[in-house]
Order: sequence, then C-alpha cells, then structure tokens
Amino acid sequence: MFEFFYALPSQNRAADYRSFSIVPATGAIGADVTGVDLTKLGEDGFAELRQALLAHKVLFIRDQSLSVEDLEAITLRLGEFGREPYVEGMPGHPHVVRVVKEANERTPVVFGGAWHTDWSFQERPPAFTLLYGHDIPPFGGDTLYANLALAYEWLSPKLRAQLESLDAIHSPERAYGAEAKHNDLMENMAVRYGSHDGEVRSHPLVIRHPETGKKILFVNPAYTSGIKGMRPAESQPLLDYLFSIATQPAFTCRMRWTRGTLAIWDNRSTWHYPVSDYHGMRREMFRTTVVGDVPSR
Ligand code: SIN
Repeated sequence: MFEFFYALPSQNRAADYRSFSIVPATGAIGADVTGVDLTKLGEDGFAELRQALLAHKVLFIRDQSLSVEDLEAITLRLGEFGREPYVEGMPGHPHVVRVVKEANERTPVVFGGAWHTDWSFQERPPAFTLLYGHDIPPFGGDTLYANLALAYEWLSPKLRAQLESLDAIHSPERAYGAEAKHNDLMENMAVRYGSHDGEVRSHPLVIRHPETGKKILFVNPAYTSGIKGMRPAESQPLLDYLFSIATQPAFTCRMRWTRGTLAIWDNRSTWHYPVSDYHGMRREMFRTTVVGDVPSR
C-alpha cells in the first residue's frame, strides 16, 4: 500500500528575530542562522536563540570563529555540561569531544554513523548537542536530522494512545558493548568500549518535551533495544515501524557543513545521522552536550 507522507511547512516557518536572520532548511525541521557572532551575543540574544532552537529543533549557525573555550562558554549559556560516556574529552577540556576522521584512515566508518538520539540510555540524556565544524571536506560529510514530534503526530490516535502507556529500553550495548567492533575502525577517535557500565534503563516511549510541552516519540535505532514487558518478536516489528515513519524524507532535513558552522540540536526531539561519504578527506568537529531532564510523560 502506498502512503503519501507530508509535512506542513507552517510547522517550520521562521519568526522574526532581532539578533539574527533565519531561513528554514525544509518544511519539517532545521534552519540556517546568519548575522550573529555568538561570542558577542547578550542574554536577550541567547533567549531568542533558544526560542529558535525549540522552534526549528536544529540550527546551523554560520560564519563563527570559535576556540574550544568559546564553544565551552556558549554551551554553558544553554545549561550545564552533559556527561560524555565511551569517548574521551580533549586534554584539558573534559567536556569537549573531538570528532575526527583523517584523510588517511583505512575505512569509511564515521563516528555516530547510525540514526540516533545522543546518549538516550542515560538517566538524563542531553537536552542539546553542539557540534562545531572546524575542518570540513569540500563536499560530503553532511548530517541528516529527523523530527520525532512530527513522526509522533503522524501516527493514528489509536496507536498513539497505546504507545503512551509503554516504556522503551535503551542500551549502549550495540554501539559500545564488547561486540561493537566498528569502534576499532575509528583510528583517530578515543572510543572506550567493551563495557556498558550497567547503563541500561527504560524511558517512556512517548515523552512530553519539558520546554514546549509537545509529545515526542522517544526511541531510536541505535540505542533502543526493546519495549518493557514485550517479547523481542513483539517489540522489534513495532519499533521498526516507528523507525520507518521517523526516517520519512518529509520529516527530515539534510544539513551541509561549512567551516565555522556551529550546529545546535534539540536532542530530545530529534535524531541525527552523519553521512559517511567523504572517505579520503578530512573532517574535524568539536562537540559538547548540555544535560537534560529525566524524560517523562
Ligand atoms: C554525532 O553523532 O555526534 C556526530 C555527528 C556528525 O559528525 O555529524
């Protein structure tokens, strides 16, 4: 059966902001921000930026020239640092992760190369992730984003009602457990794996966004390993169906990096997917997270 998926562009239309200009990326999610220097932005400007972030879910803030210290300071304007498991922070900057693929690496594997919400297995997963493009290949290395509020809204009222009573299980096992051999292939990233530190926990399958009040599907292909009280043969087809909705092109955007772009995404309501299509070229990013609340209904 053919299902015609669509997003209404009114859901991602830009408001007027005093501190910057903004252009939506697609009808579903994402926006480009220009005309602002984040190192000089005042309190009112950051309040506007947060408003835009909640509205568009992903901002690509262009033409910044940030040091690692600037990135840390900007992160702290949004909240407290999150905890980075499995990846080492930079020397002297424990909250900053260097996401790098060198031109001479042997395989095309990239860090985070599957649809995911960052660290959804944590008790308080990140509210926001910041990723600064320090060295960007001339083409390739885009990042895709999906809008999980739109995916939830697409479902029938009956299915939504059923999902709202369920809890999903999140585990780092597939990505960072002992069998996660893909980590060996990332030659220049300090990934610690082999133990998932007991970080397996459940969160409501549908959460209420703590700032917008919107309902959101809170499952993702990388870390959601099941549904509490259901057999794998029951939960996996349901999860696969939900994943197939969230990845509909109508609910996504594809963001193109330029050197000096700072991306900030609302981790509670999105997935992201870094595309592996720049093997043989260099890409270097600096990443921080802002801790979020315990996800709740
Ligand atoms: C990540 O998953 O944090 C990496 C995203 C990217 O490299 O584009």
